[in-house]
Amino acid sequence: MRKILVTNALPYANGPIHMGHLLGYIQADIWVRAMRAMGHDVTYVCADDAHGTAIMLRAEANGISPEAQIANVQKEHIRDFDGFGVHFDHYDSTNSDENKARSEEIYIKNREAGNIAIRPVTQLFDPEKGMFLSDRFIKGTCPKCKSEDQYGDACEVCGTTYNATELLDPRSTLSGATPVEKSSDHYFFKLPNFAEYLQKWTRDQGRLPVSIANKLDEWFDAGLSDWDISRDAPYFGFEIPDAPNKYFYVWVDAPIGYMSSFENYIKTKRPDLSFDDFWKKDSQNEVYHFIGKDIVYFHALFWPAMLEGANYRTPSGLFVNGFLTVNGQKMSKSRGTFIKAETYLQHLNPEYLRYYFASKLSDKVEDSDLNLDDFVQKVNSDLVGKVVNIASRCAKFINSNFNNTLSSTCAEPELVQSFIDAGDSIAKAYEAREFSAAIREIMALADRANQYIDEKKPWALAKQEGQEQQVHDVCSVGINLFRQLAVYLSPVLPTLAAQVQAFLQLESFGFESRKQILVAHEIAQFQPLMQRVDPKAVTAMVDASKDSLAAAAEAPKVEKKKEKKAEKKPEPKVDEAEIIGIEDFMKVDLRVAQVLEATIVEGSDKLLQLTLDIGEAEPRNVFSGIRGSYAPEDLKGKLVVMVANLAPRKMRFGISNGMVLAAGNGEGVWVISPESGAKAGDKVS
Ligand code: 2FM
Ligand code: ZN
Repeated sequence: MRKILVTNALPYANGPIHMGHLLGYIQADIWVRAMRAMGHDVTYVCADDAHGTAIMLRAEANGISPEAQIANVQKEHIRDFDGFGVHFDHYDSTNSDENKARSEEIYIKNREAGNIAIRPVTQLFDPEKGMFLSDRFIKGTCPKCKSEDQYGDACEVCGTTYNATELLDPRSTLSGATPVEKSSDHYFFKLPNFAEYLQKWTRDQGRLPVSIANKLDEWFDAGLSDWDISRDAPYFGFEIPDAPNKYFYVWVDAPIGYMSSFENYIKTKRPDLSFDDFWKKDSQNEVYHFIGKDIVYFHALFWPAMLEGANYRTPSGLFVNGFLTVNGQKMSKSRGTFIKAETYLQHLNPEYLRYYFASKLSDKVEDSDLNLDDFVQKVNSDLVGKVVNIASRCAKFINSNFNNTLSSTCAEPELVQSFIDAGDSIAKAYEAREFSAAIREIMALADRANQYIDEKKPWALAKQEGQEQQVHDVCSVGINLFRQLAVYLSPVLPTLAAQVQAFLQLESFGFESRKQILVAHEIAQFQPLMQRVDPKAVTAMVDASKDSLAAAAEAPKVEKKKEKKAEKKPEPKVDEAEIIGIEDFMKVDLRVAQVLEATIVEGSDKLLQLTLDIGEAEPRNVFSGIRGSYAPEDLKGKLVVMVANLAPRKMRFGISNGMVLAAGNGEGVWVISPESGAKAGDKVS
């Protein structure tokens, strides 16, 4: 029996759980349930990520203390996870005494090991608010195109990027005051001390998806930098030991929350478990973190380095999921596809979504799409049409004609045995997080079970004289086959599985239990197990999500954006105005371009500098973020497609005069190229 600790990324304590979050939580919960069904000892913990400027300001805007803010949100998060059957053994907060103590300890051990540096950093400071400002809290006039009301990092009108100090008439968005430059000491974690260690660590067997390890190599090639782990007061977080008024940046104590949530679980619920058995350096027990691909950097570099520096074990593996799109596009409030967990639960059975996600997920770092029409169709055809149908077709005869008792011998031992045997590869698929493969196998079995019943036609036999035994046997086989399917689906559909277990009056529903064929076994009265998805309920959910936008619009929208940026997170996968008219599209001048020259840009691991012939007198200079996927020599002579009328953009390395089109999915980038026959300067339409 393996002893395993599983965690999910800790959600921020300032916003609701939505469909995008649920993909990773449901994935982890299915895995945990599957591993338990196979007999392993799995502990599953999570917590709210409670610190940071965003949460501090949100509390201020709500007129409550940060503690009250995080307590309110925590209740909602727990309610939503429960609603979806995501069942943590323990759900904590990073704002706990245990997390404070553990963060201090890990910091001090790293300091003693020489992994901390202190040096001054100059930043803009709001003299009225008395706090340092990140770029998103500063607005002013673009130094290039003079557009007003631009953020401190880039102009949304002309695309120029700059330092906040270059803005004309800068002002703090928090107080309206003019910011001043101010220097203060910052504490840094010396990540380069771990470069060699991490390079090996990320390549260890099973540690990371290979696509992610490849991506990390780009960062290693570019060289690791020191990580700024301090924030000046005022900041909602833990004060750094021996550094008055300096706080740990939220991303320091967030992953340490995995440890302290586990510690609190032991303290409060499982004193028989030992913290050290899981976290001491040479622990043989396993620790896995389920995370989204946007936070790999923190989990694959900073986190193992901090742990190694403090002489703790590092995670056995990171399981990384992609983003969620809805109906093929980013979740959108205007289209009603930014669906909160709470809204979903008001309209639909959570097990529908668990099933749909399972049918999509694999061990690959791929984005998944929740297509709402496909969702209705798949759940209705697979779960209601195939699986539940087997039980309802057979149970009524057992209940009414045979005193609720199955036949005393199995009439189709080979058929039932083949279902039992299939469980081994289904279990393997679950363990490998190949859930879509597991679902495919289970549905193929469901088809066979239905085929068997269709061939035997117990409803027709029941009308014939002297066929009672046949009816009894066929329906008993049907119930046995159904039982196998329900066991296999139990990690995905825990509520349905519990209903089936009660209906079949079985003590255990673990994978091993399936091997005992049910003969002369008494079952309970059959109750309907699952209703069809009503497409009207889906429409109502989408409409309600549109409504919630109207409410959300009253909340400060800009602030939301700032918070994300403040946490150095990629922009959320939410888009509010993606639809453009043909007139807008026609404004884009797309042209075929030939790459005359492609060179590496010193100091950038992402960019290539391209010299492009687009049929004009002068070639164009364009910087393109494709270095991860192309060597310069791959591109020379190639025909590509570019946007020719994009406003020139000033970049750190020069001016970029256009943009080369490429497809990308977070793992790779592929330049769009016309078929042969096209030539430089041709219009693309
Ligand atoms: O990206 C996020 O939503 C973070 N709150 C995840 C933190 S995971 C862990 F490190 F705590
Ligand atoms: Zn501008």
